[in-house]
Amino acid sequence: MTRAIILSGGWGTRLRPLTCTIPKTLIPVLNTPVIEREMLLLKKVGVKEIVLAVSVMGKDLKNYFRKGEKLGITIHYTKEQSPMGTAGALKLAEPFLKGDNFFMLNGDVILNFNFKALLATHEKYGGIGTIASRLVNNPSRYGVLIIDKQTQKIKKFLEKEQYVCSEEAHNKMPVNAGVYVLEPDIFSFIPPKKKLSIEKDIFPKIAREGKLYHYPISGIWKDIGKPSELLKGNILLLEDVLKKTKDKKENLIVKSANIHPSVEIIQPVCIGEKVIINENCVIGPNVVIGNNVYIEKKCEIKESLIYQEAYFSQNSTIEYAIISDNCHIRKNVKIKGHEKSLVILASYVEVNNGIELHTSLNFPITVCHHEVVRENIIQ
Ligand code: GDD
Ligand code: MG
Repeated sequence: MTRAIILSGGWGTRLRPLTCTIPKTLIPVLNTPVIEREMLLLKKVGVKEIVLAVSVMGKDLKNYFRKGEKLGITIHYTKEQSPMGTAGALKLAEPFLKGDNFFMLNGDVILNFNFKALLATHEKYGGIGTIASRLVNNPSRYGVLIIDKQTQKIKKFLEKEQYVCSEEAHNKMPVNAGVYVLEPDIFSFIPPKKKLSIEKDIFPKIAREGKLYHYPISGIWKDIGKPSELLKGNILLLEDVLKKTKDKKENLIVKSANIHPSVEIIQPVCIGEKVIINENCVIGPNVVIGNNVYIEKKCEIKESLIYQEAYFSQNSTIEYAIISDNCHIRKNVKIKGHEKSLVILASYVEVNNGIELHTSLNFPITVCHHEVVRENIIQ
């Protein structure tokens, strides 16, 4: 096994307006695109060739990864004119994947488990597919797996709305973690040139034939599909890196950052290349700052993701927000999101002096790219 396919052609609608200017899978997580993190994990277990199944904003992915020179992996691309669904996309990659089993991944998940163990389990069971499964409290937004505890076979695969909550909902349920090992036999289940979902149209059939297994995973796992999950996923990884490294003060702050000695850093915090932070700022906890961000004096930022080239004028406070690349937050701005409904500013948004943006539990604030915020928004 040396090959993999990563699905990277969905619309990313739940992450709009961020995904108006960047494909979901290129969204940075601790300053590296989520899909690149997956590729690095695959490389670690010996994968040498990856097919990127692209569609929406495929050009951006091609421009970023090219033929894989930077990563030292050979990258092929399949192209759908319009999204063909997760199984339609896989079918297009058949010429690259014939002959041996392969990994298949959703391109939008943060994870850190051992892919080798998944492969070994798959080979032991001898099915057509083995799905990494994860126990979660709220299964209804995922593919739910009904498992035969004796054989570890998946008896039923119920994608989202197909799953009707029962008493079991009070317990954690195993769901599809979006990582699989598949045999080339899977291609005989997928007719060509059709828009099909692997979760709704293909896995249920293979499960009925008793040829679909699961492999339970633990540790970090987060689908970044919603803003609050994107923030949470970054925080989980931040905490993990901090746990594993000795020098807690420095580890995720790159050497090229220029931080004034009076700045208070409350870990966990990740600070990218060439960031400048001026006097009396307070940064953290749970903050990721992208490359080339400039922060003037007396700003406070916590529980937020700040993407590259953003600029903060003095005395602004930011909490539970995602601030995209090249945004400009002017003086005395107060942005206060809620853990479950963040303030989201897309690329190149400007927020005028003294503006206040406040969300409440069920009312997020989202501002489209290149807009200027001239009035307070209090939800
Ligand atoms: N090429 C291509 N074409 N890729 C697609 C298409 C398509 O038509 N549709 C979706 N994708 C890609 C997305 O870009 C993403 O990387 C992946 O397929 C999964 O799509 P999502 O839209 O993110 O699905 P989801 O998060 O609602 O549900 C999926 O992931 C869950 C785990 O995170 C399902 O696989 C669930 O069963 C699973 O539990
Ligand atoms: Mg997803």
